[in-house]
Formats: sequence, C-alpha cells, structure tokens
Amino acid sequence: MSREEIAETGDNALAIGFQIKIASSGAIFTVANDKTIGEVLAEHGIEIPTSCLSGLCGSCKVRYLAGEVDHRDLVLNHDARAEYLTVCVSRAKSPLLVLDL
Ligand code: FES
Repeated sequence: MSREEIAETGDNALAIGFQIKIASSGAIFTVANDKTIGEVLAEHGIEIPTSCLSGLCGSCKVRYLAGEVDHRDLVLNHDARAEYLTVCVSRAKSPLLVLDL
C-alpha cells in the first residue's frame, strides 16, 4: 500500500505526518512526511540554528513540552531526549508535539 493509499484510508493519521504546536503562540503546523520540523518552522518564520542537518551535532535542539518524540538523532543522551528533540531529524510517535518556542 502506498503512502497516498494509507492516507486516503484514514486508518493511520500519522501516515500523513504529524502536527507541531508553538507553545507561546498556540499556532499549530502540520509536518508532512516529506518535511522536517525545522523546515516547517522556517516556512513560518521561526528559524532554528542548524549545522549538520543529520542529527549529529545538536545545534538544532529545541525543548518540547508534550507529545511522544521519535528522536532519530545520534547526539542526545537519554536524559536530554526527555526534554529536547532535534528539529532536523526528529519525528513524532504521537499526533501532536508541543514545542517550547
Ligand atoms: S542540525 Fe545537527 S543535529 Fe540538527
């Protein structure tokens, strides 16, 4: 089943991406499967410093307040992952992530 077919069935909301909420403004943006959190933030005028764009350096870490993160980086340790995500590679395991921005 293709990604488009899964999205059409509505069986899995995460198949079409996930949402991020900006805690300070309440704004909610969709992160499609072909975009990173950092790209979506930049599209809405929120520039996060980046360097490697591969989950290796930690330059782009952002604190999150709610949601279940699929981390995918190689830089944050267990304790850091409880508080931060990397916007260049992190995805979501829950429908919504709330970012401390
Ligand atoms: S830019 Fe290096 S970890 Fe995100």
